[in-house]
Amino acid sequence: MTTEVQGVVARGKGEPVEITTVLVPDPGPGEALVAVQACGVCHTDLHYREGGIGDEFPYLLGHEAAGVVEAVGEGVTGVAPGDFVVLNWRAVCGQCRACRRGRPWYCFDTHNATQKMTLADGTPLSPALGIGAFAAKTLVAAGQCTRVDPAAPPEVAGLLGCGVMAGLGAAMNTAPVARGDSVAVIGCGGVGDAAVLGAQLAGAVTIIAVDVDARKLEWARQFGATHVIDSRETDPVAKIRELTGGNGADVVIEAIGRPDTYRQAFYARDLAGTVVLVGAPTPEMEIGLPLLDVFGRGGALKSSWYGDCLPERDFPMLISLYLQGRLPLEKFVSETIGLGEVESAFAKMASGDVLRSVVKL
Ligand SMILES: NC(=O)c1ccc[n+]([C@@H]2O[C@H](COP(=O)([O-])OP(=O)(O)OC[C@H]3O[C@@H](n4cnc5c(N)ncnc54)[C@H](O)[C@@H]3O)[C@@H](O)[C@H]2O)c1
Ligand SMILES: [Zn+2]
Ligand SMILES: [Zn+2]
Repeated sequence: MTTEVQGVVARGKGEPVEITTVLVPDPGPGEALVAVQACGVCHTDLHYREGGIGDEFPYLLGHEAAGVVEAVGEGVTGVAPGDFVVLNWRAVCGQCRACRRGRPWYCFDTHNATQKMTLADGTPLSPALGIGAFAAKTLVAAGQCTRVDPAAPPEVAGLLGCGVMAGLGAAMNTAPVARGDSVAVIGCGGVGDAAVLGAQLAGAVTIIAVDVDARKLEWARQFGATHVIDSRETDPVAKIRELTGGNGADVVIEAIGRPDTYRQAFYARDLAGTVVLVGAPTPEMEIGLPLLDVFGRGGALKSSWYGDCLPERDFPMLISLYLQGRLPLEKFVSETIGLGEVESAFAKMASGDVLRSVVKL
């Protein structure tokens, strides 16, 4: 049986998203049908509709979600109907080279994501990050469902499905920040603030937040920033060096995805420090750096996809910390909205009015 739901679809590059009928088939072998309860609006959804990720339009947007498993297909043993789950875009396969070498956070076997949902006329939809959760129901690979404690509200739990996990993990897993480190985070949206929080959780002593929006800097303080820099007014590289005894930060996390801010990150780190790029660049972006500086400054230049997380390991642990009152994930939820308000949420994101708008279904 095919279920008919309303979903948020991007039909073409730069076109406003629209709500339209989406057909969701029953789960096949290895798949799960999930009743979505909440789904955050991430900058990556906007990247999709701007054509920054690919041109497999139409896209079914939404990928930061939590919900309840409604049905599972043949052979699914990991989750069952009624389970409260966070959807993930890294269903670790256990088979690929990365998995076999014991580095499953590099597993990116998107083949396990299903692409069977369609528009009413049968046009196949590309679900954002293999999820497509701006819809009352979505069909995913069963491995994309990670069970967590149902005591967590869905609008909070779902955030772990992308941006907040990406930021927390950039600090805790990719860098990784060590106790006593100095950390700077450039760009303090949902991802950057999560990196600030992750740095604090990992025991960083100095946490410097950089943004071009005073409200964002205020919020970053609430997540644990010890210093803030408005980079419209102050040169962030010079200021980060000043705040770190002239050395530069041990870890600089770039959470925007732009060449100019990556360059700031590169020069604001300590010799032998680490740069982590978690912001997502678009295809036309390039960067030129003196090779002598890349060589001479040592250290590590890393990128972080999804915070190098392992959903099965990290989501339940982070939800436990949240339920114990040790990880204020609820502070990321600026507002809850309806399915029809995704386009206006993009505008609010662009104007800096929100950290996360979360669609409740
Ligand atoms: N690597 C991953 O796995 C992953 C996961 C999720 C999101 N992302 C990417 O992370 C990035 C951030 O996502 P978000 O949801 O936090 O976006 P966002 O739009 O909420 O935040 C971006 C922040 O950067 C600030 N900013 C913009 N230009 C700046 C500049 N020149 N200098 C300093 N600050 C500046 C903005 O004021 C804003 O606070 C996006 O590129 C998104 O696609 C990556
Ligand atoms: Zn794998
Ligand atoms: Zn995302």
